[in-house]
Amino acid sequence: MFTTSFEHNLAGAIDIARSAPSSHNCQPWAVHYSPLSRKGYLAIDRRRALKGLPSLENEMLMSCGIFFQHIETLMRYAGTPLQWTWFDDSDTSSPLPNDQDGLICFSPGDLQVANSEAYFYLAEQIQQRHTNRMPYETTTLSALQQFRLQEIFSDSPVQLNMWQDQVSRKHVADLVYQYAALDFADKQAWQETYSFIHFDKNKPAEDGFYLHHLFGKIPAYAEWLFRIGFHPKLNPFTRLLRLPQFMAREFSKLTGQGPQYLALSLPEPNQHNLFLAGRMLARLWLLLQQWGWGIHPLSVLVQHDLPKATLAKTLGMTHLPIFFARFGQIKIAADISPRRHLDSILTID
Ligand SMILES: Cc1cc2nc3c(=O)[nH]c(=O)nc-3n(C[C@H](O)[C@H](O)[C@H](O)COP(=O)(O)O)c2cc1C
Repeated sequence: MFTTSFEHNLAGAIDIARSAPSSHNCQPWAVHYSPLSRKGYLAIDRRRALKGLPSLENEMLMSCGIFFQHIETLMRYAGTPLQWTWFDDSDTSSPLPNDQDGLICFSPGDLQVANSEAYFYLAEQIQQRHTNRMPYETTTLSALQQFRLQEIFSDSPVQLNMWQDQVSRKHVADLVYQYAALDFADKQAWQETYSFIHFDKNKPAEDGFYLHHLFGKIPAYAEWLFRIGFHPKLNPFTRLLRLPQFMAREFSKLTGQGPQYLALSLPEPNQHNLFLAGRMLARLWLLLQQWGWGIHPLSVLVQHDLPKATLAKTLGMTHLPIFFARFGQIKIAADISPRRHLDSILTID
């Protein structure tokens, strides 16, 4: 099927990188490569991208940045590095399909010596990383660990802030309690979120998540309560029962346990910087993973203007956050979530 080692390695790298995290596990990426022109591109696949809120575009760019970071590093370790530039229409051999927005153009770089040990180690890390929404151990980060995390962001426009004190935990718990119900309040956004939740464990899926990914093991009656109680068509009924408030209280209890929080922010949150932030987030997430630590993003605090500004003010940040998460040493392992097949991501002509 593949005529060159570059194509073969590209397919191999994408097959591993498809385990990258993305908002709602929507996996909004598409890759195309043309062996004839030796040019390829990475694009946002608009059929898959979230659009329930304007701010979700930031998360699409960060998600694609994480995905690309994995591909780029794996290709380097495979000895077939990518030469890449920001997307430019004139750099592709044919126009993009209407439902794709180009992000990156790439072509094969000069061949290098492969580092198979580094390749397999990274591949294992990428595939074993899962979002962990469970309670964490109370272990705090050492000064050396904090330094190693900050190192990822040196010479970049992205700023990393971290907190691991009781006062911050209280602030985050209060903010989550105050704003978590926003997830359900916006009809269009909630409809989109709900469409990514799968209720039948026996029905295969290629994106989204099952209820146990969100809440761990819960009794069957609770699954039914969630399925019916939070159905977008029953929105007024749900509100009458004050279910959003109930969820906000439970979520606030969990998130208030921290034990650590991290925020990424940008002085200039433009398309390129958001993509770069995704690349850095990929490295941060995998370094924590190496230490046996997990991340639980809390995007509800950065998707709406008011909580975002309040969060920045309360935690004393210089710039508005583009990503916020609790994190800590893993106590309860998280489960693997579905993924798209390689063939639906990569096209070669
Ligand atoms: C930019 C970004 C934002 C995310 N926001 C949330 C969030 O608010 N809540 C949450 O539980 N997971 C969040 N996630 C995690 C995704 O839901 C998760 O990556 C996806 O479901 C795939 O699961 P996995 O990470 O375990 O492979 C986010 C991930 C990314 C990359």
